[in-house]
Amino acid sequence: VKNQKELRKFEAENVPMSDIIKLLPDHVANQIAAGEVIQRPASVVKELLENALDAQATEIKLIIKDGGRTSIQVLDNGVGMSETDARMAWERHATSKISTAGDLFKLNTMGFRGEALASIASVAHVEMKTRKHNEEVGTLLAIEGSHLKRQEPVSVMPGTSITVKNLFFNVPARRNFLKSNPVESKYIIDEFMRVALACPHLSLYMYNNDQEVFALKAATLGKRIKDIYTDRKDEQLLEVAEKTSVVSVQGYVGSPDSAKKTRGEQYFFVNGRFFKDPYLNHAVVAAYEELIPKDCYPLYILHLEIAPDAIDVNVHPQKTEIKFSEEKIIYQMIRSVVKRALGKYIQTPEMDFNPEIISGGANAPEMPFQPRVESKQGYNPFSPQTPRNGGGGDWKKMFDPYAGQSFSERYEKEQEASLFPVPELKTAASHLIYTKEYENSCFQLHNSYILSQVKNGLLILDQQAAHERILFERYLASFENQKLPTQEKLFPKVIELDAADFELLSELTDDLARLGFDISAFGKNTVIVNGIPADVKSVNEQELVEGMLESYKLGMTELRLEKRENLARSMARRTCIKGGDALGATEMMQLVEQLFACENPNYSPDGKPIFGRVGMADLQQLLGKR
Ligand SMILES: Nc1ncnc2c1ncn2[C@@H]1O[C@H](COP(=O)(O)OP(=O)(O)OP(=O)(O)O)[C@@H](O)[C@H]1O
Ligand SMILES: [Mg+2]
Repeated sequence: VKNQKELRKFEAENVPMSDIIKLLPDHVANQIAAGEVIQRPASVVKELLENALDAQATEIKLIIKDGGRTSIQVLDNGVGMSETDARMAWERHATSKISTAGDLFKLNTMGFRGEALASIASVAHVEMKTRKHNEEVGTLLAIEGSHLKRQEPVSVMPGTSITVKNLFFNVPARRNFLKSNPVESKYIIDEFMRVALACPHLSLYMYNNDQEVFALKAATLGKRIKDIYTDRKDEQLLEVAEKTSVVSVQGYVGSPDSAKKTRGEQYFFVNGRFFKDPYLNHAVVAAYEELIPKDCYPLYILHLEIAPDAIDVNVHPQKTEIKFSEEKIIYQMIRSVVKRALGKYIQTPEMDFNPEIISGGANAPEMPFQPRVESKQGYNPFSPQTPRNGGGGDWKKMFDPYAGQSFSERYEKEQEASLFPVPELKTAASHLIYTKEYENSCFQLHNSYILSQVKNGLLILDQQAAHERILFERYLASFENQKLPTQEKLFPKVIELDAADFELLSELTDDLARLGFDISAFGKNTVIVNGIPADVKSVNEQELVEGMLESYKLGMTELRLEKRENLARSMARRTCIKGGDALGATEMMQLVEQLFACENPNYSPDGKPIFGRVGMADLQQLLGKR
C-alpha cells in the first residue's frame, strides 16, 4: 500500500467498475419474503443453478455425490466475480441484482434477495473459485459455517465454480430429516430438469456419483423436451403459441393419448422462472376435459412472458409461487390456446380413426363431447359432514383442497385425519363382526356402496375405501412377515421411465419384491417387469408401475410418509376395487368380512371413514314417521 490517498483514488476509479454487489438497505431487505431457503440438497442445487443463469452462463455443469449429501458442485462459464464481490457474495442481503424496493417489480433475474449464498454458507463447507473474463487471475474462497477460512488468488478458467460439502454438518436435525440418497437425487434431478426446460438454449450437464445423468446440448425447446423425456422421443408434441398485450404463451403440450398416470411432466415458467399454480394447471386440464381419463396427467411445458410489473415473485422464500395481476385473463388464454392445439391435432388426417370425434367439421374448434353423468364420489347424503356440492366455489380450492395452507398446516391436517379413529366406531365394528348380521344381505348401490342390514339399522360401506384398507394392511404385513406371491409374466414388459422415476424405482425394488413384484434395471432409465403380485388383476404393467410411483411421490412430498407405509398405501390405492366396479354377492360378503378382520376397519389408509350406519330412528325421522 503506497498511501491512503492514492488507494482511495484507485478505488474510486476502478472498484465500481468491477464490484457490483451491494448490501440491501434494511427497509428493502425487510420487504423480501423471509423464510428458510435451504431445506435439502436440492435447494442448494436450485440456488446455484439460478445464480449461474443470472451470470449469463451458456454452459453449466452440475456434479453431485450421494444425493448431494457428500457434495454438490456447480460450474458455470458466466461473468464471474471480482475479488471483492467474491467475498461480498456470501453476506446476507448482498446482491448485485436489485437495489431498491421498486426493483422487485422490474426483475429480470432469478435472484433478488441476496440470501442464497449466505444461507448455504451457514450450514455447509463451501469452496468457490471465480474469475471475471477480463481478469488474469481468479479468487479462491473457503467458508465453513459462515466463517471465512481461506481467500487467495487462483489460476482458473473464467466463470464460477462452487462446491458445497457436508451440508447441514452443524444442523443434525436437518441432516437426519433427509431422505435416502436416491430420493434426494430425485429432488435434485427435478430441479435440474426445471432449468433444462426453462433454458433450452443452454448446454447443461449433470453427473451423479461420476455417472452421467444428462448431457444436454443447446437446442430448441421441442428438441430439449425429447432429449429429456427419452421415452417420448417418438411421440408428437403439440405446439402452442399465442401472444396478446397481456401475456405471451408458448411451448408444447402432449397429445391426449400420451397422458400418463404419473404427474411430473407439467411445467409452467414465467419469464424463465419455474412456478407452480394449481389454478393455471386447471386451465390446461380443463382444455383436455373428456379427452383423457380423470386420473391421467397430460404433459405440458408452457412458457409465459409477462411484463415484470404484472407479476409478484416476492411471495414465498422458495420463489415457486407467483402472483399475477391478470390471473383470470391468463387462465382463459391458456385454456383456449391448449384447446386449439388439441383441436388441430384431433382434426389431422392421420388421426382419422375416430370419425365421431372429427364430425364437428373442419373448422369446429370445439370437439363434440359425449354428455356424461357426473357421479359425486364419496358423497354420502346421510352424513352431515359431507359437503353438498363443491361447484361454483373457488377453483383453487376445488382442485387443491389445501390451497392457501402452508406445508406444515397440510401435514398436520393429514396427520390428524389418519391418526385419530373415533372410538365409538370401533365398538360398532366389533359388534358387527360378532352378530354377523350382514351375512346374505348385501346390496350394491350404484356399483360403489355396499348396503347391508345390521342390527337396528342399515350399514353403508364405501367399497373402494374398504378394499384399500384391506390391501393396505396386507401389504404392510408382507414387509414384516411373508413375501406375497408373484405371477411371473410370459412376456416380460420393458418400461422406459424418466431419470427421476428410474432412480426412485431403483430404490424401491427390494420392497416391491416383498409385495410380489419382480422388477429389475434394464439399461439406462429402463426397467423390466418380469412379474407382478399374484392377486393383481390389472394386466397393464406400465400403468400399474407408473400409477404406483405417482401415488408414492405424492405421499413422499405432500404427506412425508414413511417409505413402507407410503409404498403399501400407493399399491393399495392402485390395485383396490374402485367405485363403479360391479361386485357379485360373494365378493361383497368377502369384502365386508375381510374389512372387519382388519386392525383398523374404520378408516381408509388416508383417513376417510369407510362405513356409516343409519339407525332405525334416523330412518323414521327421514321418512317423517312418528
Ligand atoms: N455463479 C455466479 N456467477 C457470478 N456471480 C454470482 C454467482 N453466484 C452469485 N453471484 C453473485 O453473488 C450475489 C449473491 O448471490 P445470492 O444467490 O446469494 O443472491 P442473489 O442471487 O442476488 O439473490 P437470491 O438470494 O434471491 O438468490 C449475486 O447477486 C451475484 O452478484
Ligand atoms: Mg441467487
